[in-house]
Amino acid sequence: MSIDLKIGILGVGRYLPANVLTNKHLEAMVDTSDAWISQRTGIKTRHIISPGETLTSMSVAAAKTALKHAGIKASQIKDLRIGVNTHLRFPSLAALVQNALGIPDVTAADVSAGCSGFIFAVEEIYNRMIADYALTGKVSYGLAIGVEALSLITDWNDRSTCVLFGDGAGAVVIGPVQTGEILATHTRVQGKYSDLLYLDEFLSVPLKDPAKMTFKRRKQTVYPFLHMNGPKVFVVAVRTMMADIKEVIAKYNRSGRGNLQLSDIQFVIPHQANRRIVSAVARGLRLPPDRVYSDGVVNYGNTSAASIPIGYVDVWDKYPGALMVDVAFGAGFASGAILRRMPRK
Ligand code: ACO
Repeated sequence: MSIDLKIGILGVGRYLPANVLTNKHLEAMVDTSDAWISQRTGIKTRHIISPGETLTSMSVAAAKTALKHAGIKASQIKDLRIGVNTHLRFPSLAALVQNALGIPDVTAADVSAGCSGFIFAVEEIYNRMIADYALTGKVSYGLAIGVEALSLITDWNDRSTCVLFGDGAGAVVIGPVQTGEILATHTRVQGKYSDLLYLDEFLSVPLKDPAKMTFKRRKQTVYPFLHMNGPKVFVVAVRTMMADIKEVIAKYNRSGRGNLQLSDIQFVIPHQANRRIVSAVARGLRLPPDRVYSDGVVNYGNTSAASIPIGYVDVWDKYPGALMVDVAFGAGFASGAILRRMPRK
C-alpha cells in the first residue's frame, strides 16, 4: 500500500538538570581518574537530577520546548509515548506527563526497550499515524519523549558503571510535514543477550512466597542496581547498530520507494553510550567521524533512552535536507533505527 503522506519531526526540545558531575568529582567518589574515563568512554561531564527534579518534571520541560518549537499545542496531541526504564512504579510516566501537560484523554504509554525506548516510541507513533490515515484519511500529532534518571539506579560504589551515566530528557513532536519525513523504521529484540545488561529484580525475594511476606519485609527498602558486562555489551552493541543501520535502509528499499546505499547517508545519530562504540560503528561502516554525532557522550554521558532526542537539539539546524539515520541499542538487547530526512529551512 502506498500512502501520499509525509510524517516527520516538527519540533525538538530537551531538559538537562543544572547539577553537573565532572570526572574530577568522580575521582573523589571512587577509585577512578579523568584519564581512564576519557580514554575508555569519551565522557567528560554528565547532568544529575537534584531534589525537586523528577522524571515527570524533566519530561514536561523537554516536551514544552518541543511543542513550542513545533508551534503545536498540547491539546492537539493524540498519541504520547515515553521511552523510559527508570520509572519503577505506576501509574505510567505517560499518564503523569499527559496530566501535567494538559494532553487530552488519548493513547499515552511508557515504552520499556532499554536505551532504544525512544526509537520504539517514535516507531509506534509513526505506525499508528500511517494506519489511522489509511483508515480515516485524517492525520494528527504525536509526542515522543525519551527520559531517564539512571543516577537513581546506579551503584555509586561501582566504578565500572557509575562513571558512565547521566540524567535528562528529550522530546519531539511528530506530525505531517512538507520536508523532513521519516522514510522507514526498524526495531527488534535479541532476548538471548538479556543477561548482559540488567536491573536487579527488587521484588524477587518476597514474591517467591507472597503469602509469607511480612509487614516488616514490606517496609524494607531494597535498592535495585544496574549491572553490566561492559566488554560483551561493547561487542554486541557495535555489531547490532551496524546491522540495524543496514536493515533500515534495506527496509526502505524493499518498500519500492527508492534505492538508497549506505554511502547516501549524510549523518548518523547513534545512541550516546560511549565514544569508542560510536567510533567503532563509524569505522565499521566506513563513515567519516564528522558524519557521526558523538558530542552527547562527551557532555551528557549515557542518558539511555534520552540520548538521541537530547542530541537532536545539538544538530537540528546543521544538516537541512540531509539523509539521516538514528540508531540505538540497549538492554534486552532491544535495538532499532529510523531512516529520515532533516527538514529544509
Ligand atoms: N576507573 C578506573 N578503572 C576502571 C574503571 C574506572 N571507572 N572501571 C573499570 N576499571 C578497571 C577494571 O577494574 C579493570 O581493572 P583490572 O584490569 O585491574 O581488572 C580494567 O579497568 C579494565 O576493565 P574492563 O571492564 O575490561 O574495561 P574496558 O576496557 O572494557 O572498559 C567499559 C570498560 C568502558 C565499560 C567498556 O567495556 C565499555 O564501554 N563497554 C560498553 C558499555 C556501555 O556503553 N554500556 C552501555 C550501557 S547501557 C546502554 O547504553 C544500552
